Amino acid sequence: MRKVYRGKDIEVSFDLDICVHIAECLRGQRQVFQLKRRPWILPDLAGADEVAEVVRLCPSGALQYRRRDGGQDEDPGETTTVIPVRDGPLLVAGKIEVRREDGTVETLPRATLCRCGLSQHKPFCDNQHLAAGFRAPGIPFHIHLSPVRPRLDAPITKAEDPRGEN
Ligand code: SF4
Ligand code: FES
Repeated sequence: MRKVYRGKDIEVSFDLDICVHIAECLRGQRQVFQLKRRPWILPDLAGADEVAEVVRLCPSGALQYRRRDGGQDEDPGETTTVIPVRDGPLLVAGKIEVRREDGTVETLPRATLCRCGLSQHKPFCDNQHLAAGFRAPGIPFHIHLSPVRPRLDAPITKAEDPRGEN
């Protein structure tokens, strides 16, 4: 479920259900994004441009933003790109409409989509490819060990992520 963290100049939203635990957020702006603080996102602790830049690095679309200061909202552009990650999901960027069985439609600017077929949360990747030892060609994608990614060889469950509590 997407939660909204409203700042004066920019609003950031987060959906743990589609986070793939890459930690661009925690590494990108350590004041704004703090795993164990509640709320874990405080958008006013950095400039809106800086916050937006970090949010755009989130590959899964778990983080999104909306400017409240008249600044430019994220522009998905004309082209949608799909990049296969080596041994991992498809990285998609553009205007992505996810249509669900219950008729709901969610629009995302970025998404990590399951390529191994094993995700419990399709069409999104939930890192089950790690447990399965999925192998497929693609671009290498370096994943750092971080507080949201304490191991590299197995999925991180929602229950293990402290951001599920707030
Ligand atoms: S996928 Fe999750 S951990 Fe990675 S940048 Fe986005 S919100 Fe942060
Ligand atoms: S590619 Fe990640 S769960 Fe399938």
